[in-house]
Amino acid sequence: MSMPRRLLRHLRPHAGALLLALVLALLAGLVDLLRPWTVKVVVDYVLGGRPLPPAVAGLLEVLPGPDSRRALLGWTVAVAVLLAVLGLWLSLVVARRVLRAAQDMVLELAREVFDKLQRLSLGFHGRHEVGDLLQRSTQDVFVGAIVAQTLLPGLVALITLVGMFLVLAGVDLPLAGVAMTVVPLLLAALYWFAPRLDRTTSEQFDRWGKLMTFVENALSAIKVVHAFSGERYVRNRVDADAQRVARAYAGSTFLTTAWEQSTIAVTGIGSAAVLGVGAVRVLSGSLTLGDLLVFTAYLSSLYAPLQSLAKAVGGVVEIRSRGRRVVEILDSDDDVPEPLRPVVPAALRGEVVWEGVVFGYDESRPVLRGVDLRAAPGEVTAIVGPSGVGKSSLASLVPRFYDPWQGRVLLDGIDVRDLPLRLLRHQVALVLQEPYLFPVSVADNIRFGSPGASRSDVEAAARRARADEFVEQLPDGYDTVLGEHGTTLSGGQAQRIALARALVRNAPVLVLDEPTSALDAETEADVLEAITAAASGRTVVLISHRQSTLAIADRTFEMRDGRLTERPGAPAPHRRAARSPSLDPIGTP
Ligand SMILES: Nc1ncnc2c1ncn2[C@@H]1O[C@H](COP(=O)(O)OP(=O)(O)O)[C@@H](O)[C@H]1O
Ligand SMILES: [Mg+2]
Repeated sequence: MSMPRRLLRHLRPHAGALLLALVLALLAGLVDLLRPWTVKVVVDYVLGGRPLPPAVAGLLEVLPGPDSRRALLGWTVAVAVLLAVLGLWLSLVVARRVLRAAQDMVLELAREVFDKLQRLSLGFHGRHEVGDLLQRSTQDVFVGAIVAQTLLPGLVALITLVGMFLVLAGVDLPLAGVAMTVVPLLLAALYWFAPRLDRTTSEQFDRWGKLMTFVENALSAIKVVHAFSGERYVRNRVDADAQRVARAYAGSTFLTTAWEQSTIAVTGIGSAAVLGVGAVRVLSGSLTLGDLLVFTAYLSSLYAPLQSLAKAVGGVVEIRSRGRRVVEILDSDDDVPEPLRPVVPAALRGEVVWEGVVFGYDESRPVLRGVDLRAAPGEVTAIVGPSGVGKSSLASLVPRFYDPWQGRVLLDGIDVRDLPLRLLRHQVALVLQEPYLFPVSVADNIRFGSPGASRSDVEAAARRARADEFVEQLPDGYDTVLGEHGTTLSGGQAQRIALARALVRNAPVLVLDEPTSALDAETEADVLEAITAAASGRTVVLISHRQSTLAIADRTFEMRDGRLTERPGAPAPHRRAARSPSLDPIGTP
């Protein structure tokens, strides 16, 4: 879908409100058109002593009070006041309606962008920087407001300009012609400015995105920055990016100012011409002084609608550059699409099979070069191998963070690409290598993937993950909000919360990516026991390079050069022991 149409779609639900605002705005424009006429009435008929036109004379007769010129002055001043008040009231009503509709549109667009961002695959997120996406999803979505806040006033201004010309033409066509010579001049200026404004504005927003990205990264990694005294390096990088933003901002703002000032100058030139030609026509008697005053009043008030039009041009430019950045997200193809004909099985046992899987991140460099593996329910299948060999990548194909280049991943014999994504991901509980915790309470972190879990479910999972002891020591126990008041967890503690989060999900497939890498030997033994217990009836895929971990595995595969080979060996005796609750857990290797 093209960008303008995509954005205009968001206007549709507000069409009624905007139409009403348009009508009211036109009324306000009409009020503006009427205002200079009070000057003419006073100058020509009250001061100038010209005979009253029949309409004015008739009106004065109908109105209470004497039919004197003084009374006319009184009424005219009253009308001028009334017009001013009416103008104020109309413009406030319009502003309120337009602002509401505009902000509603921003919200809707932001919602749509954020939903899409959440849905888009890890592949997409790997290609885009967080800072830039932040900029797009929180700043650029204001493009939704520009449509209503700039284009509507622009339209009203255009209609007001046409109205002014028609009124002026009715008074004195030749002079109206002189006044309107400003229009081609303005069009010429517009022709020159528009593409330049377009370019500099786009550049400005892109550079903002880059700056945000680097600042976001540097602040997230502040520990590393401090540890390696990297402040100067970071500062220089930020400074360089900020200078680019500043230059781009100065450039585009200068251009905008130049365009606005040009419209003022052109209006000034038009006013001078009207003053000259108009005065000559007043002297020759073909125009009254009051008419000339109406002309000059119109010309000086021409500035307001022209300003709105100039803004509208800037608005169109901004819509194009911000809109492009927003629509790019909305139109991104999902690398991990929902199946066209989804298969919805009645129940899943949880058998996971990798079949001839070839996968990588960079076309020229496959990471997995033909992986065949079957992880059976009720078993712990361990995968070992040096770091960087592709173990995490193998695991990430099960919940479809990515899809393989070749081959398939099957869940109970069904290609995972044929399962509805939500259903698939509900079957897989995952402990990621980096246990990310949200800045919410410990309990909410544990029930993150299982909103229905009760408090006792949460506590039971924490006990099994050997997290209960330290959680109870926290200031507010399970209600302690992480990150608040300096409450942070150690790596090993975070790992156990992440494990509890996976266990509480009660999914048939449990994928654990180095779940004990940050634990001491004793805690690890406890956690492994919990994992072994969780394995009964489930499929457990355990990635690790620790010998101790492997002791609980039923089968162990070694990954090398993107392929797996099984390590021969009897089922681990530890596992048998750990599975029996009557025996003491044996965790030490
Ligand atoms: N999101 C990613 N984008 C690009 N390359 C990646 C990404 N994740 C991992 N890689 C690369 O793929 C290879 C395997 O990584 P990974 O599966 O994390 O290995 P392991 O878990 O065995 O340590 C590495 O060379 C790594 O640099
Ligand atoms: Mg890994």
